[in-house]
Amino acid sequence: MRKPVIAGNWKMYKTPKESLAFVDEFLPLVKGHDRDEILLFPTLTSLERVLDATAGTNVHAGAQTMHWLNEGAYTGQTSPTMLLSIGCRQVLLGHSEQRLYLNETFERVNLKLKAAISHGIAPMVCFGELLTEREQMQTEEVLRTQVRTALHNISASEAQRLAIAYEPIWAIGTGITASPEMANEAHEIIRQELAHCCGAETAQNTRILYGGSVKPDNISELMAQEQIDGALVGGASLVAETFAKIVQYK
Ligand code: 13P
Repeated sequence: MRKPVIAGNWKMYKTPKESLAFVDEFLPLVKGHDRDEILLFPTLTSLERVLDATAGTNVHAGAQTMHWLNEGAYTGQTSPTMLLSIGCRQVLLGHSEQRLYLNETFERVNLKLKAAISHGIAPMVCFGELLTEREQMQTEEVLRTQVRTALHNISASEAQRLAIAYEPIWAIGTGITASPEMANEAHEIIRQELAHCCGAETAQNTRILYGGSVKPDNISELMAQEQIDGALVGGASLVAETFAKIVQYK
């Protein structure tokens, strides 16, 4: 019912030349694969080239973030209309690295989410708790508050193209993966809160991806969980052969 999504977040890696070399190697490896949606989030300097190089294929690309306004004196920012102008129709919002290092807030994620929806750009919104929050048994409350804040005033019809990534911050880039059961439980909490915000049908239909040290050798057990509808992969998405193995999990 929910088509899985395997997404690669390249973070601040790869020049345009390196990005195109990846695409050249990757496309033949996943040719014809349509069990899962395949998505790449390159840096802004590579995005247009990756969009062009993947046009008409089973691989799609999106931006790692955007501003909510169409233009203005906001140095360093990129607007929804600018993304649309290069053919970009997907965006990652609220990644924990934006929250930890660049003061991103869920109130701003909410503004960005509304802007993405109104421009027909499909948003993938990230949630996840800190290690200290998990240790203090606050995971559930933290996730519920994050979801409520990010999805404030988003209707069921607006949430149609929404995807969510659960990325426990302690599992990102650390080599520590949440156990499949732990991830499944967190996804369940997020789905319940999504039902409160946008209705049961939206909650049923929305893909919730897991992210945090996903590798070829742990993807299958994660994907076997009922509530896990895909993966958002950092480090292991940078090498075409490795990422293709993840896409082709059993
Ligand atoms: P890693 O897969 O490198 O842990 O990164 C996860 C992530 O942050 C994806 O957005």
